[in-house]
Formats: sequence, structure tokens, C-alpha cells
Amino acid sequence: MLPIDGLTIRRSARLLQALDQMNRAAKGVLLVVDEDGRFERTVTDGDLRRLLLAGQPLESTIASLPRIESVTVARGASTAAIAQAMDSRKIDQVPVLDERGAPIGLWHRRELPTPILLSTPHLSEFEQDYVADAFRTNWIAPLGPNVDAFEREVADKVGSKHAAALSSGTAAIHLGLRVLGVGQGDVVFCSSLTFAASANPIVYQNATPVFIDSEPESWNMSPVALRKAFREAERIGKLPRAVIVVCLYGQSADMDALQSICDEYGVPILEDSAESLGATYKGRQSGTFGKISVYSFNGNKIITTSGGGMLLSDDASLVEQARFLSTQARDPAPHYQHSVIGFNYRMSNILAGVGRGQLRVLDERVESRRAIFDRYREVLGDLPGLRFMPEPSWSRSTRWLTACTIDPKVIGMTRERLVERMSAERIEVRAVWKPMHLQPVFGECRYVTHGAGDGGSVSDRLFENGLCLPSGSNMTPIQQERVIETLRGLLTENASRRVTARLAG
Ligand SMILES: Cc1ncc(COP(=O)(O)O)c(C=O)c1O
Repeated sequence: MLPIDGLTIRRSARLLQALDQMNRAAKGVLLVVDEDGRFERTVTDGDLRRLLLAGQPLESTIASLPRIESVTVARGASTAAIAQAMDSRKIDQVPVLDERGAPIGLWHRRELPTPILLSTPHLSEFEQDYVADAFRTNWIAPLGPNVDAFEREVADKVGSKHAAALSSGTAAIHLGLRVLGVGQGDVVFCSSLTFAASANPIVYQNATPVFIDSEPESWNMSPVALRKAFREAERIGKLPRAVIVVCLYGQSADMDALQSICDEYGVPILEDSAESLGATYKGRQSGTFGKISVYSFNGNKIITTSGGGMLLSDDASLVEQARFLSTQARDPAPHYQHSVIGFNYRMSNILAGVGRGQLRVLDERVESRRAIFDRYREVLGDLPGLRFMPEPSWSRSTRWLTACTIDPKVIGMTRERLVERMSAERIEVRAVWKPMHLQPVFGECRYVTHGAGDGGSVSDRLFENGLCLPSGSNMTPIQQERVIETLRGLLTENASRRVTARLAG
């Protein structure tokens, strides 16, 4: 905040004096105050120029300025409130008033901290060459050399046999379910703690989701809950057609445990690794465990094609079917012929070029995200009331997003309030995914918990108290320090209040 020295002026001041003061203060704005020093309005360069153009003599006072309602903020206003005040009038400066209404400072847009976002695209030096190549060779279509190469390169990188590049991770899940034979009347088990895109394709296929709770160790699908769900399904004679196992926030689920349960019942896993490209489970790449696995290259992911996804499998025929369905299911005929309903789900050759460039820096991106997590943990790890998402011994997470939980009783505020307070400082912090069984749209669906009884749902607790911190690999150390300092201030506010109260009383 800028001091107001030399910025206040009375209505009785002469126009010449106002011009001189404006010139010396060099802020482009003066603050008109009354006899008691209370703020009346701002005067800009333009206001004075207009008085002159209207023929006002230099010796006259500025009292003829109309009484307008200038936008102001109160002392202690949040950064977001100040930015909003500026945006509301398309202005760059806002006076700050004390409780009496006297100006005590001036915020200039330049001085405001810039917003820090959760996870933004981070381009390398490589993407443009691949994209330029697509333009140079006129491969501006949902097929071409970049698409073929991107599929091969991703498959090789993670150790999968086959891959199909698609328009989104959601499309990949949809086609995955379809080629696994999920259809009308089927049941599909799915992690509850996830983004809606994991579950929506079940409904696209007219099947019914049953949601499975998380385990506390990895936040991913609980083998205990999965077993319960299978026993129940067996009892009622309706086994699922597939199980969608989601790998959250850059961390694999406990694939061996989940796989062995699914194997007992002969049900395939569709591994939703949209968020976990680059992570490993017992040394093997996340996204290579499912009968079908899926990655997302959405703009917020660890690498991006702006929008895109990939379906992978060691089974060539499944990937072939998916590729066929993704390009409108055209029969091999000399004319347009279709025997089944297809989709327009293929990735474009331009975006695949972006993906090829991004893939070259995937390892660096993983290390950057992990370093960001390590810094958060190093500085904030000891704070009471804060716990970071655990990383079991079998997991190497990418820490795509640094996720943590708070204890509202210890920090004296709810997760919702904490998110609001961070956002007031222009720091984007988000609640952990709201579990699918709590979503109105899936309200009727069955949900199987990890624990017994009323408090047995792990995902409910993670949602209630969980949040994700800014984690982009392009975040600067200064930005991360701002997140840390702001969060530390809020997390310790309650403890400081208690100490002050004890000392006072
Ligand atoms: C767990 C999960 N599954 C599926 C998706 C869908 O991916 P896309 O946005 O590429 O459709 C996302 C992300 O967006 C996700 O986070």
C-alpha cells in the first residue's frame, strides 16, 4: 500500500495548486478530504484536465468538481476485495479508509500480489517444433504423424504395449468401458473420491455406478471396501462388469491388493490414471495396471495438450476397437458404412505435437512437483492441525497436487473458511474432490465404506477437511513462499489468539 503523503487536498484548493500537487505526487490521483480529514472523492489527471477544457480559470477552486461516489476499501481489506474494487470500476488505484473514513493509504494495481493458481500449463522449449511441423506438412487433422508418434512415445515411456490418443481423458474412460463390454443394466464399481469425469461415462453407457470408499493410507480405493462390495454383489447375484480404480493427485492406488480381489471375481480394472502419469507403484508406472488404463492431458495436468487423453492396454484388440470407435466407427468399405455407433474422440495432430514436446519434460515436471511438496512439508509439516496426503512405501507419487487435511478444531476454522481466506489473498486453494456418493446427481447410488458404522466413510472425512495447495511446476520460489506464509499465518491464528487470551487473563 502506498502512503498518502502529498496526496490529500481540500475542495478549497485552487486548480493551479491541484495541478502542481498532482505533478509532484506523480501518482495520477489526489484524494479530496473535508475539514475533518474524511475522504470525499478521488481526483484524477483527467478530472483536472476537463476542468481546464471547460474554461475553469487556474485561480478558481476545485470545489466545482461534482460530488461522486468514489470506490474505496476499508482498512484490512483482503487482496481479493481490493482487486475486485478496482475491477468493478476499471480503475488501477483505490484509497484505503480508516474507521472514521479518513484515507490512510492508496493501493495501486501494480502493488497487488498476482494471483497464484493451483496448477497451470507449463510449456517447454520443444512443443513449438512439433506443432510447426504439423503446420508445415499440412497435417491439421485428427490423425497424422504426431498422433502416431505420441501414442508410441507415451506407451514406450510407461511400458505399455498399445495406446490410442483421444480428445480427453473422459473420452478414454468412456471408450474403455465400452470396449470392456459395459452396457445397459450393468453395474460398475468406481472410486467415490474422484472427479465426476471418472464416473460419468458409466452413465453414458446406461450402466449403474456403485461407489467404493478410500483407504486412509493412500486416499485411493480401499481394498477393504472393494472386498465388501464384491461380497455384497455376489450375495445379490450381480457382479460388476468393471471396476474403475482412480489414482488421485499423482498417487497410484494399491494395485496389487485391488487386482487380486478383482481377479478372484474375474472382473477387469479400468485404471483411471488421469492424475497420475509419471507416478510409480512398486517401481512400475501408474497407468499400466488396468486391463485398460487412461491418462488425461487436460490443461491442469502434469503435462498437457491443452485438452486430450489416452487409452492404453497391453491388449492390442481393445486399443484397436477403441481407436475404431473414436473415429466414427467406419467399416472398412469403399464408401461410408457403419455397423455400430461411433464417436468423434480422436486427438488432433496439432495437440499431439504439444503432447510430444511435453512428454520430453515429464520427468522434470515430476521432480519439480515433488520438490514443491517437499518444501511445503519441510516448512509446514510440524504445524499442529495440518497433515499431508500420505505416501505409502509402495508408492512414488508425482505430487501432482500437494493435498493435505486440516483439523478444524485445532486451527479454529473449517476447510471451507480456510479456502475462502486463502482466496481472499489471491491464492487458489481447492477442496479435495467431493466424493461421488455425496453428489446430488449420484445420490441414489450405492456406496460401500472402508470402515463400519456411521463414521466408517474415509472419503467423507477427506472431503470435509482436505484441500489442495498451489502445485504448478512453474510456480516460482517467491510464489511458494507467499503461499507458505499466508497459510502459516492462518493455521496459527487460533493458537496465537489462545496465547494472547491466556496472557491477558
Ligand atoms: C481422476 C480424473 N479422471 C478423469 C478426468 C478426465 O480427464 P479429461 O479432463 O481429460 O477429460 C480427470 C481430469 O480432468 C480426472 O482428474
